[in-house]
Amino acid sequence: MTEPATSRIDDACATANRRVHVITYGCQMNVYDSRRIVQVLGAEGWVETADPAMADLILVNSCSVRDRPEKKILGTLSRLLPLKEAHPGLRFGVCGCVAQQHGDALLDKVPYIDLVFGPDRIADLPAILASTGKGLRQSRTTLDAPADYTFLDVDPSVETGATSFLTIMKGCDRFCAYCIVPYVRGRQVSKPADRVLAEVTSLVAVGVREVTLLGQNVNAYGKDRPGETDFPSLLSRIAGVPGLRRVRFVTSHPADADDRLLDLFGTLPALAEFLHLPVQSGSDSVLARMRRGYTAAQYLERLARVRRAAPDIALSTDFIVGFPGETDEEFEATLRLVEEARFDSMFSFKYSSRPGTLAAQTRDDVPEARKAERLARLQTLQDGISRERLARFLGREEEVLIEGPSRDTRQGGRGKAILEMQGRTRTNLTVNIATDVPIGEARGRLARVRIDEILVHSLRGTVLAWEAA
Ligand code: 5AD
Ligand code: SF4
Repeated sequence: MTEPATSRIDDACATANRRVHVITYGCQMNVYDSRRIVQVLGAEGWVETADPAMADLILVNSCSVRDRPEKKILGTLSRLLPLKEAHPGLRFGVCGCVAQQHGDALLDKVPYIDLVFGPDRIADLPAILASTGKGLRQSRTTLDAPADYTFLDVDPSVETGATSFLTIMKGCDRFCAYCIVPYVRGRQVSKPADRVLAEVTSLVAVGVREVTLLGQNVNAYGKDRPGETDFPSLLSRIAGVPGLRRVRFVTSHPADADDRLLDLFGTLPALAEFLHLPVQSGSDSVLARMRRGYTAAQYLERLARVRRAAPDIALSTDFIVGFPGETDEEFEATLRLVEEARFDSMFSFKYSSRPGTLAAQTRDDVPEARKAERLARLQTLQDGISRERLARFLGREEEVLIEGPSRDTRQGGRGKAILEMQGRTRTNLTVNIATDVPIGEARGRLARVRIDEILVHSLRGTVLAWEAA
């Protein structure tokens, strides 16, 4: 989640065009927004380049959810600064959540940043660039009022793979005590259901087989549009789109994961058996201080419910350790929950105080060393459980959606004679497969794969049969 993804489109026939290089930090929502940025600029004749040295504009799409995000951005841009000296027309921009949070202050502080714009201002980018062309440094960070917010169109032609993200709502109304999202992304706004359906259909038409629905609290979809389609109904309609083989969604809040939603896992064939359900802590008192709206027992009951619906489902979660006032006993409760929950995977973080949040009013009093020690204990415990969960796949036959060359192959195959493809199981595990089928033919197809080997966080297998093209 913290490593930046860089832009990937080729530079073919781009000599006359202006070129943009986008570096993306943070969540899938940011990955999606980066595609929209490329799309908005594409309509103005820009092309995306994977090489910052070729760019006329370098954008950092930033995340402010934790750590010291400004430092990360400035580190990235200062490393690229020599490019600006070599190419005086090159402009640097910061967008995303840090841009939203700091706005003008970033321009004041950092002389080599030319433009700053928030997530709600992506459509204004051509106008911002026109102003910066006149030598003005620009910052645009107005958040739209929910009633005025319009989602950017999805241009399916910017999609190049078998899988795609699709934002179906923005913002969040929950205001968990530690979380900056409602302040940088604003209040919840859901995209109208008919529009979501039309977008899914248009993605399938260009070859997308798997869609991941995105929202900061995606399962609260529709709660801002009472009487209209709610999330379980939307999911059921999407799962019925002809040609769509898999649908996933992130991120879900346990208090909004009702029985109707969880039971869909047993009934909708296209709903892939994977659920990311952040718990944050196993201690009821910490959960109450975090304002999460559920207890550890209620959370475990949600897991039991979804496992009854889909016994083989893979479950993942997020934890924060060292929330203000977290005692040793409270942390032990987290370890107990992890023992009991048997998650397949986990993301865990040391608490960091975020400006403007409720928790920021309380002293960040757990010493850094204790946070680090708790994080290490938690991760060691989960590593063993993850290994045990992964082991159940050995020898099994899995449905794998082929996404492209494996990472090894992309990096030159490390001298291997046989190239590898990479795909995912319905449970969201990466599978590497050696094959002589050309990648162009395999990408986007489903294969029945026998799992031969368990790697650290992924699998390796052999294709037994291909789904007809
Ligand atoms: N400190 C540490 N981790 C945080 N997260 C969100 N806010 C903070 C914070 N202030 C984590 C949560 C969330 C994930 C995206 O980031 O675990 O689920
Ligand atoms: Fe980071 Fe949250 Fe913004 Fe996503 S929405 S980029 S996780 S702060």
